[in-house]
Amino acid sequence: MVALTLPKNSQIKSGKTWPKPETSGKLREFKVYRYDPDAGGPPRWDTYYVDLDDCGPMILDALFYIKNKIDATLAFRRSCREGICGSCSMNIGGRNTIACTSGIDEYKGKITIAPLPHQPVVKDLIPDLTQFYAQLASIKPYLQTETPRPEREWRQSQEDREQLDGLYECILCACCSTSCPSYWWNSDKYLGPAALLQAYRWIADSRDEATGERLDDLEDPFKLYRCHTIMNCAQVCPKGLNPAKAIGKIKELMVERQA
Ligand code: SF4
Ligand code: SF4
Ligand code: FES
Repeated sequence: MVALTLPKNSQIKSGKTWPKPETSGKLREFKVYRYDPDAGGPPRWDTYYVDLDDCGPMILDALFYIKNKIDATLAFRRSCREGICGSCSMNIGGRNTIACTSGIDEYKGKITIAPLPHQPVVKDLIPDLTQFYAQLASIKPYLQTETPRPEREWRQSQEDREQLDGLYECILCACCSTSCPSYWWNSDKYLGPAALLQAYRWIADSRDEATGERLDDLEDPFKLYRCHTIMNCAQVCPKGLNPAKAIGKIKELMVERQA
């Protein structure tokens, strides 16, 4: 595996330019990051031409066009194709987002596609998110209670349920964490915006009874306090969430409990 810093054209060699498809349709040029650790060799940019008249409207459709009609060796992740699973996250046109809800016509000119930055690369557009998931697991993203289990479900009022709006919708795509400069430099110690948004999702849940322990776990110079409110996270989130706001709420709770 290779650790990918922000992919810059000057740092990665030009690779193969694949033949243009024979068509009278409208062509669009894609420059795609390629890296195969098993084959060896440095990462490279390959160039492909996609016939827009024979392709769906989304970036993920273009990747399928490339894989099915031009180059079967291209590797990328995807599952739901409708912005729910978070698996097709990548860097498109210099910005982290998910490919299945990004329209080709949202981008001008040649479209550059790379894996999420600052993560090890498994192959091509597939980052290794082992650390990201371990950090998520560390905040215990599940209901913790002490009172006896109710006969039926754990209940909450409509108002309490509304406190989770803007939090529960996270699809764990990692676009925010991998666009956060603080996370780039301290990803081994700083939990990053995605894990912290999830931490606050459980702190804010009226049914959860481990708020004190959750805050204790975050009381650390690196885990929480490396957020410097740069706001990249909120700008890239494909679900329109604001992890920085959630991080700010955790910091407020830290101050309140010390008062
Ligand atoms: S606001 Fe905090 S979490 Fe979001 S990008 Fe900035 S430093 Fe990272
Ligand atoms: S907060 Fe947004 S960008 Fe971050 S992991 Fe969740 S859905 Fe993705
Ligand atoms: S394929 Fe599921 S979010 Fe894109």
